[in-house]
Amino acid sequence: MDEGQKPLRHVAIIMDGNGRWATARGLPRVMGHHAGAQAVRRVVEASCELNLRALTLYAFSWENRDRPADEIQELMHLLEEFIRRETPTMLANGVRLRAIGRLDELPATVVESLQRVIARTAHGERLTLTLALSYGGRQEIVDAARRLAQQVQRGTVRPEQIDEALFAQQLYAPDLPDPDLLIRTSGEQRLSNFLLWQSSYTELYVTPKLWPDFTKADLIEAMAEYDRRERRFGRIAAAHAD
Ligand code: FPP
Repeated sequence: MDEGQKPLRHVAIIMDGNGRWATARGLPRVMGHHAGAQAVRRVVEASCELNLRALTLYAFSWENRDRPADEIQELMHLLEEFIRRETPTMLANGVRLRAIGRLDELPATVVESLQRVIARTAHGERLTLTLALSYGGRQEIVDAARRLAQQVQRGTVRPEQIDEALFAQQLYAPDLPDPDLLIRTSGEQRLSNFLLWQSSYTELYVTPKLWPDFTKADLIEAMAEYDRRERRFGRIAAAHAD
């Protein structure tokens, strides 16, 4: 990939289509999530091989909390299993695990295993793997606004000091660069409350592939498409700049 003009450091993925994948095979929806968890393993490994610096996965949205209890329970079980089984591989591959979202909404056992592995992998320097859990972009912005309001109330921040940079510092993972590329599987063309602040100038890539079918080759194809895009960040094309 082009590391000079347009580096691709951070890929974010809306992993969609697990349910449809299962239904198309006459299987219960949770089987789609099982296959989706395999795809997560594949893509994390591929991201290391392709030298990405950061991968952020929309694993459980704020709105997913309204799904039937047994489906949520299975998703939490898969998450715990993923964390447990993948820890040695993450450590071996220099993966640093992080989580963003309203984590206090998750079951306590999940939060404990997450925190344990987050601490164990904290020195990973190759790939930062961020799981968005109980995550909503609007909720993240509200939480940031609330923290700033508290700082104003305490007198540590003056309202006129609040600008984009200060606001962004209150987000869940302020040190993570904005995603360069956002992939959504299963053909839906919407952000679904994912990384709303951070995706302002992110390149979007939608593939009809359902998440359980997503492979390293699909990631490479998305990265190649990113390479063909011209990122202007609201400015005019480089060819017309002078
Ligand atoms: C969308 O499929 C996917 C999810 C709601 C959650 C993503 C979860 C996984 C990939 C599995 C476990 C995660 C980890 C990190 C191990 P959907 O159910 O909305 O699909 P549909 O739109 O076809 O119904």
